[in-house]
Amino acid sequence: MNVLEPHEWRHKTIVAGTEWKNPVGTASGTFQLDACGDYYDVSQMGAICTKGVSPVPWEGNPSPRTAEGPSSMVNAVGLQNPGVDRYLVDELPRLKKLGAMVITNVAGHSDEDYAQVVEKLADSEADMLEINVSCPNVSHGGMSVGTDPVVLSRLIKHLRTLTDKPMIVKLSPNVTDIVQIAHAAVDAGADALSLINTLVGMRIDINTGKPIIANRTGGVSGPAIFPIALSFVWRVRQSIPNIPIIGIGGIDSGEKALEYLYAGANAVEVGAAALVDPTAPMRVARELDDLLDFRPELAAKLAKGQTW
Ligand SMILES: Cc1cc2nc3c(=O)[nH]c(=O)nc-3n(C[C@H](O)[C@H](O)[C@H](O)COP(=O)(O)O)c2cc1C
Repeated sequence: MNVLEPHEWRHKTIVAGTEWKNPVGTASGTFQLDACGDYYDVSQMGAICTKGVSPVPWEGNPSPRTAEGPSSMVNAVGLQNPGVDRYLVDELPRLKKLGAMVITNVAGHSDEDYAQVVEKLADSEADMLEINVSCPNVSHGGMSVGTDPVVLSRLIKHLRTLTDKPMIVKLSPNVTDIVQIAHAAVDAGADALSLINTLVGMRIDINTGKPIIANRTGGVSGPAIFPIALSFVWRVRQSIPNIPIIGIGGIDSGEKALEYLYAGANAVEVGAAALVDPTAPMRVARELDDLLDFRPELAAKLAKGQTW
């Protein structure tokens, strides 16, 4: 694997008042500093979005937790993480020392869980918070919060009182009407939306006739979800013209990132592709930088915090 050299970025974006060197970030749960830091300079990404952080350490779900296919993977990691206190003395200072723009992904089983994490992050060096109300792999909280506009609105209104940091709400595709949920998040005080999290799915081992992952179902990500995720971004953008949107789902090339920008995203995050090739987020960022050279109108809009 090549260690990537630094690059002079030509096309930046602005998301909820934060300036990104380029419109590409890493997606939560698919970036690990110890693994990816060897392959590229993390300060050169548009943003680094961390694994979900909860108030206390979580062990996650039992193994096996993943099932891979040619164009998708199903995972039920279950938000394993060392907890917010450890994150604040370990991962966050290391990322900031390297000069990264950091989005801290926030996880919880209850409103109180989310509030505890956000309170602890309020005075931290994190540049943005991404509230994960959309994980399909935890039994309480997670996706259940993100599928009910009333429950979501109550949570986001409360979190809004606890922090001045730009707050991104990460939406689930596992809903009847994502536009209604998006409006609930924005009306309650979200500064930006990111979408989508994984779709509920499963795989079965044909030798045993049993589900491959211990949790039985999990979250589907990877190239297979790209057209679905793109349509979610487009639909939310059609309905809400001004909210910053981060497009996520199936991105493994600059061309796919560009499709999200044309669908109305201000930026994108690269997830599962980084599990196949750790350099993927940086490669996508460079490919997109080249593609934007030939799209000055789009590039100019992004640089001003506007969208297509
Ligand atoms: C192994 C794995 C772990 C993930 N963990 C999180 C997480 O902690 N918080 C979160 O908001 N999303 C998490 N996600 C979802 C991704 O951030 C992303 O929304 C999703 O995978 C779709 O993008 P992709 O198709 O590029 O992977 C995880 C995804 C994978 C594959």
